[in-house]
Amino acid sequence: MADGRKRSSHVNGSFPHYYSERGVAAREADVDPRVRAMRPDWFNGRRCLDIGCHQGNVTLAIGKRWCCASIVGVDIDPVLVERARAALARLKVELVPVAFAPAAAPAAASEAPAAAVSKKRRADGSAKPTAAAPPPRPYPVALALQMGLLAPARALVSPAAVFPHNVRFEAADATRAAELFADGSFETIMCLSTSKWVHLNGGDAALMALFAQVYRMLADGGAFVLEPQPWSSYRRKRHVSDASRAHYPQIRLRPERFEEYLIDTVGFRAVEQVRVDYGASVSKGFASRPLFLFIK
Ligand SMILES: C[S@@+](CC[C@H](N)C(=O)[O-])C[C@H]1O[C@@H](n2cnc3c(N)ncnc32)[C@H](O)[C@@H]1O
Repeated sequence: MADGRKRSSHVNGSFPHYYSERGVAAREADVDPRVRAMRPDWFNGRRCLDIGCHQGNVTLAIGKRWCCASIVGVDIDPVLVERARAALARLKVELVPVAFAPAAAPAAASEAPAAAVSKKRRADGSAKPTAAAPPPRPYPVALALQMGLLAPARALVSPAAVFPHNVRFEAADATRAAELFADGSFETIMCLSTSKWVHLNGGDAALMALFAQVYRMLADGGAFVLEPQPWSSYRRKRHVSDASRAHYPQIRLRPERFEEYLIDTVGFRAVEQVRVDYGASVSKGFASRPLFLFIK
């Protein structure tokens, strides 16, 4: 390539087989160990942003597992964003919210015995088997569990805030995200395994700009969930582009200093380290990455 870049997917970390490498199959993203380590209060009722959303697995898993008011996935790679949008479109067809269906349908289904027959009186008084009510349409169980009974949910939650209608995807460079989103637009912003790519391709200046924009886009009291890649993993990727080759030796703000930088310079007021339990399902490189929760 003219600028010496490798395949474009490697330049930004948009690897096509990223989730199988992480030990998480694409269709099982809702069991991504990082998502399991996250907490409902980071998302419930909140406007959320997922920076570097790849093909949308984690964005969709969070939108499905918790009751975000909205969640936007942003990625620099338009091909991945198209994939994410296609997955979202499929879900919109598959998942018709029971909460907005006639109230009798789910109740009848839950009261019916497991066997697919119900009883009716025949003229001679004997019971006649008839077809049971149709099974409830697919719907994320977590939503009903967290929102309580379906009737109150129907009254309180607008259709736009119900998964998958609370999710959307945008193709954009996150270092320019503030051009898309006004200050204070989000209560939670995530940046999972993406900081290294911003850092290598844009150097300290790009990462500092990203952190500053995250802070501005967060409302007061908002949460920044960061999963930084360790410095030891930068070296192997330093040749992905001419830019990364130039930036790598210049980097001063190494990941081990992110915490100090985000608090002392950017202005976050608290940090908590959240351990992710990967079990034996993932390679050592991923297993050593905790999540950091910063509060504005
Ligand atoms: C290694 S993947 C991580 C995906 C996802 N966050 C996760 O952890 O499952 C890194 C993602 O960041 C995206 N990315 C890299 N630089 C970016 C930038 N400047 N703006 C937005 N997305 C970026 C890549 O396209 C890629 O999808």
